[in-house]
Amino acid sequence: MKTSFLMTPGPTQVPPRVSLAMAQEIIHHRQPAFGNILKNVSEKLQKVFQTQNDVLIFPGAGTGAMEGAVVNFFSPGDKVVFGVIGEFGDRWAKIAEIFGLQPIRLGGEWGKAVTARDIDLLLSSDAGKGVKGVFITHNETSTGVYSDLESIGEVCRKHNVLFLVDAVSSLLAIDCKTDAWGVDVVITASQKALMTPPGLCFFSVSPKAWEYNKAAKCPRYYWDLASALKSLKKPMPENPYTPAVTLIFGLNEALDMIMTEGLDQIFTRHLKLSKMFRTGVETLGLELFVKDEKIASPAVTSIMIPEGIEAGKITGFFRNNGIVIAGGQAQLKGKVIRVGHLGYVDAFDISNTIITLGRAFKSQGKVLNVEAAVAKAWEVYDRD
Ligand SMILES: Cc1ncc(COP(=O)(O)O)c(C=O)c1O
Repeated sequence: MKTSFLMTPGPTQVPPRVSLAMAQEIIHHRQPAFGNILKNVSEKLQKVFQTQNDVLIFPGAGTGAMEGAVVNFFSPGDKVVFGVIGEFGDRWAKIAEIFGLQPIRLGGEWGKAVTARDIDLLLSSDAGKGVKGVFITHNETSTGVYSDLESIGEVCRKHNVLFLVDAVSSLLAIDCKTDAWGVDVVITASQKALMTPPGLCFFSVSPKAWEYNKAAKCPRYYWDLASALKSLKKPMPENPYTPAVTLIFGLNEALDMIMTEGLDQIFTRHLKLSKMFRTGVETLGLELFVKDEKIASPAVTSIMIPEGIEAGKITGFFRNNGIVIAGGQAQLKGKVIRVGHLGYVDAFDISNTIITLGRAFKSQGKVLNVEAAVAKAWEVYDRD
């Protein structure tokens, strides 16, 4: 039997209930039946985003939402700040460059976080004069570091700049109080903690961001959020173009599961599972890439590959044994492996991953104490 169980930082496992919901017969997207679903989904999304803002849904990858967040609120020549502590922060700054913005990259060292203090210092300096927006990757998936949005939000308010957050791999895995923390734009995608297959992306847009939108001169057509809002506000909500109807059926079901479990329980589950996994990895005798627990992501863990072991052999062993994990990206390629523990995941999945890590390293001649690792991991899980 061939299985392909996803322990990657996305896409993630899709619950059978969600798959079943997507087996429904297709309906037309300009009829009340679909409008009602869209209305229902939008209301549940507001709860997940913890916002009163309208949440816009587009067919697209997370990268599309990154582009949408640049072109809808800024104009060529605008000075903006990007927290760059890994691949995804860097990608966002590159998109801004392509559209003629002037990004200031803050951070740089992979594995570290950009702090509110770093941003405050920059915005208070001459270099920070005239900055219009701050872009932060909530969970840097390439390293496994997460940023403190609450304190960064305070700094953005103090300096009156727009605060934009890439929550593609964090929404639901890590708390994101959009309104309470003053996050003006939050983007995410379906294939992570939302437990839905790849193909949908989302924008939460604050009233302040809509003001920016009116002045923004970057070219846009498909990603025009104002046109998406207009369609959503019709008496029977719509999308401007053909939506991914089937994925929205799936999302609707996933959101019901999320509402039943409850946001606080979901955040706690992710935290417990990440602690369990980090304990297992350390007890195996492997090195965590992010050692500081205060910034260690509840959604993804990077593990250093010891000297003499090929990372590709470890990920290959996993693949041949029915589990998919990820390798390192860009400067971390070959140096780390990454395990995602977000979305539809529980302690048994973590336990199996720890066992498979032990077996994978054994296949490369490195014997690790799997029994101790599993025992300690469960101890931490049961204790917390
Ligand atoms: C933090 C973050 N931002 C953006 C993206 C891009 O998403 P996509 O691959 O759907 O374009 C990812 C994908 O893993 C991500 O983890």
